[in-house]
Amino acid sequence: MREKRSQFGSKLGMIAAAAGSAVGLGNIWRFPSETADGGGAIFILVYIFCILLFGVPLMVAEFLLGRSSRANAAGAFHKLAAGTQWKWVGRVGVLSGFVILGFYMVVCGWTLDYFFQSITGNIVNATDFGAHFSSLLDNKIKQILLMLVFLLLTAYFIYAGVQKGIESSAKVMMPLLFLLLIVMSIRAMTLNGAGEGLAFLFKPNLAEVKSTVFIDAMGQAFFSLSLGMGCMLTYASYFNKETNLIKTSIQVSILDTIVALMAGIIIFSSAFALTNNTDTIVSELVAGGPGLLFITIPDLFNQMPGSAIWSSLFFLLLAIAALTSTISLMEVVTAYLLEEYKMTRKRALQYIVSGVFVLGVFSAISSGFFNFLDIISAKFMMPIGGLFISLFVGWYLDKKIIQVEITNDGSLRFGIGFLKAYSFILKFLAPAGILVIFLYGLLG
Ligand code: PHE
Repeated sequence: MREKRSQFGSKLGMIAAAAGSAVGLGNIWRFPSETADGGGAIFILVYIFCILLFGVPLMVAEFLLGRSSRANAAGAFHKLAAGTQWKWVGRVGVLSGFVILGFYMVVCGWTLDYFFQSITGNIVNATDFGAHFSSLLDNKIKQILLMLVFLLLTAYFIYAGVQKGIESSAKVMMPLLFLLLIVMSIRAMTLNGAGEGLAFLFKPNLAEVKSTVFIDAMGQAFFSLSLGMGCMLTYASYFNKETNLIKTSIQVSILDTIVALMAGIIIFSSAFALTNNTDTIVSELVAGGPGLLFITIPDLFNQMPGSAIWSSLFFLLLAIAALTSTISLMEVVTAYLLEEYKMTRKRALQYIVSGVFVLGVFSAISSGFFNFLDIISAKFMMPIGGLFISLFVGWYLDKKIIQVEITNDGSLRFGIGFLKAYSFILKFLAPAGILVIFLYGLLG
């Protein structure tokens, strides 16, 4: 049976859902390890530059495509550019959704493990967290099962639908997440010696600049804001006509950046505070890679009073943040199957869960495959998708649609100068920026 097209029921729910998509493992797991790798404050500066230049304008572009077409990622291009090949931008986006879910779910599984280990007190007793993490990595069956649990949990919310599943879960989970993050940031910053960690985050050290910092920061920006693959487009297709697209994209980008910075503060101030040797800590953080969060953090908790409580809270928070993101990723693929193939939610979910499960099994088994999916999505598929979305809205799309969507058909006051400037960014600045960084990253 064909579903009637849904909409978010409230403004808060809409913001919570979009911010819930953006805020995820990207902020709390990927951002700190990329920051450590990219030399701290320098990476953060380039990252913020990418958020401003590509992030906000492209989020608006996805929003206006979604809301004006009221369709899924591929359907939007179908409707707005019938008979052209633009639909491939959307189709590749849907494929990216699969690719991201294929490794993201594995990390979600790790967060579940660490959460269970923390509430049962095991993680506090373990003395060697590096060993704990590698034993988890070695236990493929456990990783696969945990991944499956998270996958089914996500599917459960998608099955419940846009308002009852996506919106109501985000409305509860996002404020909770913020509360936890604030408490933990304060705790971390007030540790004795936290200052060095904060300096690493906020005081640029030019000696640390690497040639890959631009592509890494750009990939992180796309990944963290859920851009370039039709996720924000899909969510915007459920926005109502009063939603202020410019304001919403700025709000979501600010929230997302604040969460990433808070995660950085939590991790780096506690890391520096609890280790005596500053030189080794940086190299340790860098070497931590994807394991940073799962080795360094529990190790740090272990040295704090009340460690079981802190680590349970932290990993609960992480699982919550991850869940609102996996929900958004899965909705991209679901909406596509629902509308393009006229499937029911249930049937679509059967395909998606099976497909993601297969990718997830490979990622759990092979770290090479895992890294491949991570890199190909964040550093290739998403920025290139973003490039084409920018070109599409800048050059192809009827200016009238842009104007109607940005001003909500004249009821919001954005002058002609603003619209011109926006159009200039999409036509030239953003595409050129993405291309330059991309080529520089490939050659450099
Ligand atoms: N933005 C999410 C995060 O930071 C990941 C994501 C990417 C979600 C793409 C949806 C689409 O974790």
